[in-house]
Amino acid sequence: MNKLSQAFISTVIVADLLAVVYFGGSYILTGSILPSHEGAEAKTIVPGAEEAATATAGEPKAAEPAFDLASYVADPVKGEKVAAKCKACHSFDNGGANKTGPNMWNIVNAPVGHMEGYSYSSALMAKKAEIGTWDETKLYAFLEAPKEYIPGTKMQFNGIKNPAERADLVAWLKTLK
Ligand code: HEC
Repeated sequence: MNKLSQAFISTVIVADLLAVVYFGGSYILTGSILPSHEGAEAKTIVPGAEEAATATAGEPKAAEPAFDLASYVADPVKGEKVAAKCKACHSFDNGGANKTGPNMWNIVNAPVGHMEGYSYSSALMAKKAEIGTWDETKLYAFLEAPKEYIPGTKMQFNGIKNPAERADLVAWLKTLK
């Protein structure tokens, strides 16, 4: 090996070492940048999630009175979609058959137990005089928690908890006449 080729080889080795240092360094740099970037993203997501969790888990009672039924403009079109939850048990068309539950045509302002020929529970019939007629306010209250409004009812439905959905639903029921 002559001097010239020795020099060439050492140059190549030095270049390789530099390359290792350079790329290795940039790997380390990239390696250190990426996790901190992800960390920053995670930081922005997590506090939001915590706030959302606190809002739903911590203060459902406080959120409820914030809904103002009097100023809410109920949307019967949205209400018809909410009624999908009722259709397993109720028909809503004029002259529709009673299913598990009675037909719902003309229910707003109808007397409690309004469908002749439907076999209501004794729990519901016992409340007939007290509740009187299904006006909008009573339907709105009943549909939040049917089993609390009429203890012992055979309507096996937990209710619509969202007040806006309930108002929309009642607005749609009103159109059924
Ligand atoms: C799992 C079946 C089921 C579902 C779902 C259901 N209901 Fe009922 N519903 C019943 C039954 C059964 C009765 C009769 C209750 C009784 O006699 O105690 C009833 C009674 C009622 C009454 C009283 C009717 C009257 O003549 O006094 C109203 C109003 C009513 N349901 C509305 C709704 C609405 C609106 C929904 C959807 C948000 C709904 N129900 C969902 C089964 C159901």
